[in-house]
Amino acid sequence: MPPLVAVLPGDGIGPEVVRETLKVLRAAGAALEFEEALIGGAAYDATGHPLPPETLALCKRADAVLLGAVGGPKWDKVEPPSMRPEVGALLPLRAELGLFANIRPAKTLPQLADASPLKGEDALMDLIVVRELTGGIYFGKPRERRDGGETALDTCVYSRHEVERITDAAIEVARTRGKRIVSVDKANVLETSRLWRETVDRKAAENPDIEFSHMLVDNCAMQLVRNPRQFDVILTENMFGDILSDEASMITGSLGLLPSASLGASRYGKRFGLYEPIHGSAPDIAGQDKANPIATILSAAMMLRFTIGDSAAADRIESAVGKALDSGARTADIARGEPAIGCAAMGDAIVSRL
Ligand code: IPM
Ligand code: MG
Repeated sequence: MPPLVAVLPGDGIGPEVVRETLKVLRAAGAALEFEEALIGGAAYDATGHPLPPETLALCKRADAVLLGAVGGPKWDKVEPPSMRPEVGALLPLRAELGLFANIRPAKTLPQLADASPLKGEDALMDLIVVRELTGGIYFGKPRERRDGGETALDTCVYSRHEVERITDAAIEVARTRGKRIVSVDKANVLETSRLWRETVDRKAAENPDIEFSHMLVDNCAMQLVRNPRQFDVILTENMFGDILSDEASMITGSLGLLPSASLGASRYGKRFGLYEPIHGSAPDIAGQDKANPIATILSAAMMLRFTIGDSAAADRIESAVGKALDSGARTADIARGEPAIGCAAMGDAIVSRL
């Protein structure tokens, strides 16, 4: 039986970019079976819950999950807040599926270097953020209001085990490329960061083929705009990784281009993963055929490589994206003066190069 992919289009531009991605996956000749389910605001409207039990059950049965995007202004005020798409669907999905390793490559495509806010050579960065995804302040308890609502509390918790396994994931990634890891923390202030640093140091001693260094998060934010080419792999905790990966993506020129993988432990010898673009649901352009499907299409390529084990199909897709861009195909977000094409036309441009 071909591997089963749970397809979760979600909200906003999610359904459009996922539609183009399925077109590309079929054209690339990847042997996959697809099953679709509701998530996010769309699921909340239809079933009263942003992560219905059927959706979670499908994801647990599947070999991989392909996700569009969730959320939008329509659901920003849903009560209780735990029923909002981001908190009620994305976070529990990550936790339930054990997706502790979030891999976010930020690579400038040479065809689009002029879209970067940095000029010349500086714009040509190629780094990967390895972000811990199921711990830290996103999940720590208690999270509550006290003092009649006048005081709010979030808790940051990390265990040594959580830091060890994400460091292992970063080492695995680093071995496939420059073998340099910068571990980012706030060890001058936070106890969780001191545990983080101590744990990373132990791993560094056990893995002498990898060059490790530490950087404080505020300095890292600054170094990313000063000289992003100094980085190979950035290893960091949940919230720092959230912030730094947005910053890094902007330097590549477009949020619309960047894929991501959220990986768990291996299951039946294969690495289970959820694959999604790093951009959100972009409600302002939803349903208008204006979205850029490339981030989702490249996420599908990561899925083929990491979970399905079909790197040949992944290579074909990545090269077709490159050729479509070479030929001048541009959606509105990356057009600089050139006429823009729509989401479906970008999908077609990529399919025609497969
Ligand atoms: C991301 C998003 C999410 C996060 C939000 C929507 C909960 O910003 O995937 O980066 O903070 O993890
Ligand atoms: Mg984010």
